[in-house]
Amino acid sequence: MEGHEIDKWQQPDIADFVRQLVDKWGPEPHEYGKLTNLFDVLDAQRKSGLLHQDKLSVLWEMFGEAMTPKTMQGFVARKPHGYAGDYEVIDKIYTQKVSHDIRFSKWDFFFQGTSACRAVRNRKQYFIELLAETVQKNENTKILNVGSGPGRDVYDFFCLYPEAIVSIDCIDLDVNAIAFSDTLCQDYKDRISFSNRNIFRFRTMKRYDLVWSAGLFDYLDDRLFKHLLTHLYSLVAGNGQLVIGNFSEANPSRAYMEFGEWLLLHRKSEKLKALAEECGIDPNMIKVGSEPEGVNLFLHVEKS
Ligand SMILES: C[S@@+](CC[C@H](N)C(=O)[O-])C[C@H]1O[C@@H](n2cnc3c(N)ncnc32)[C@H](O)[C@@H]1O
Repeated sequence: MEGHEIDKWQQPDIADFVRQLVDKWGPEPHEYGKLTNLFDVLDAQRKSGLLHQDKLSVLWEMFGEAMTPKTMQGFVARKPHGYAGDYEVIDKIYTQKVSHDIRFSKWDFFFQGTSACRAVRNRKQYFIELLAETVQKNENTKILNVGSGPGRDVYDFFCLYPEAIVSIDCIDLDVNAIAFSDTLCQDYKDRISFSNRNIFRFRTMKRYDLVWSAGLFDYLDDRLFKHLLTHLYSLVAGNGQLVIGNFSEANPSRAYMEFGEWLLLHRKSEKLKALAEECGIDPNMIKVGSEPEGVNLFLHVEKS
């Protein structure tokens, strides 16, 4: 963002604008740009030390009920499941949940329209297409879905391909995510299993045609990223692949997410490739894909 855009925002202007929005229960579409810019400015002020964390909590308070779990942004910020990016918030993004209460719906429309939310919905589509391709290529396809969250992606896959011959093992650390996804996918239990496990401790003799993990590696520092990549790659069968989702540095919603303390390690395509190479993987077996928004990247690591 250009310096003068930041300079024109003073603290009283920020407070005034937030108050105006709160008084009319959220932004109108023509105000989305200005609101996004405000989050960028707050982010720049925080990073340069001009805005301290306690001031940020004062701002949260100014948002009032719009910063409680009654809105999507408040749900993100208050973390009722105890951590960011839980299965419930991800499912609400997939299903484009907007409050029926007029006091909160405008905030939710703003949230659901962000690049980051569109990218998350696109990544579900990316997975569904990858699953369909993998099933077409292999007989009795075996899939491992790591950090499976709400299971909405596999559920939608089976709705589209109810006859698919596939077995999908889903692993998640959160017992509530497992319970939710198990119920959601009950009609497909003959082909999906859900296990409440920590992937770092997960051991199996099984080998998979596709090991998929989205929404997990962007919480891991480089050391853990490489450790888990190596572990998951060992579970890939010959001619199979490991695919890892990670938010790209080109994320226009980053400041808004960080305002709600949803902190991710954003990585460029080159960085993802370099991390895989540092795990000793042949560069010819590595490629990076993206969803249409360009905000979620996918590191593909193939096995010969
Ligand atoms: C942001 S959600 C992504 C859900 C799903 N992959 C999707 O894209 O819809 C991340 C999930 O990873 C799970 N998770 C985090 N750490 C984990 C670990 N060590 N082992 C297994 N699951 C983990 C969380 O419980 C959460 O459900």
